[in-house]
Amino acid sequence: MTAAKRGRFITFEGGEGVGKSTQLSRLADHLRGSGLDVVATREPGGTPRAEALRKVALSGRIAPLGALAEAALFAAARLDHVEKLIAPALKRGAWVLCDRFADSTRAYQGARGGAAAQAIALLERAAVGETKPDLTIVIDAPPQEGLARAALRRDAAGQTADRFEAEDDGFHEELRRAFLDIAEREPGRCCVVNGSLPPDEVARAIRQLVEARFLDPQQAAAQ
Ligand code: TYD
Repeated sequence: MTAAKRGRFITFEGGEGVGKSTQLSRLADHLRGSGLDVVATREPGGTPRAEALRKVALSGRIAPLGALAEAALFAAARLDHVEKLIAPALKRGAWVLCDRFADSTRAYQGARGGAAAQAIALLERAAVGETKPDLTIVIDAPPQEGLARAALRRDAAGQTADRFEAEDDGFHEELRRAFLDIAEREPGRCCVVNGSLPPDEVARAIRQLVEARFLDPQQAAAQ
């Protein structure tokens, strides 16, 4: 029996409400339609233990302990997620699409929260190991657009702002810059997509990116 070819690992990153979840599920549907085995997941969360840690992280109860403690909590959730869900799925040949991953810790707890970059890098290595994303799609949009969208979504669900959505405008501007900086530093892994475009256009741009990068040239030309 030959071993399955490792699947592809694609992460979606960006500020609040830029359309990551919508675009992730559109790409997942498209790839499933092409016959691929696709696992769609999110962070913090993705496994029962990590979902339990998500509740703690988003409640803000850990915030008084500081950004590094928050980063450690996200890393603990990530470790379980990688070990129990992401790595096994990739190994069996599935494509894994993840809504946020380690870049969110770099941006929120590192660049914005002020936790030392070296400590964040250490936590990232421990939690991620070799399970690094093959492609990271950074959806970029002005924070005001994203926050308005996130507020609408919350109102419809009868929820209140979480620990991060409740931060001020400066926080979200800095976050946007942090994600763009990550993309600039790692152009081989990251692609920035304009999240202010209509959702259909964003979805098309993402499909084209993925096809150009991963699907063989003949297949990409035929689609
Ligand atoms: P979520 O409701 O999933 O937000 P969004 O729809 O914007 O992705 O909540 C996740 C929140 O957790 C979000 O505000 C970003 C934050 N977060 C971190 O601060 N660090 C991390 O490592 C991760 C994965 C998320």
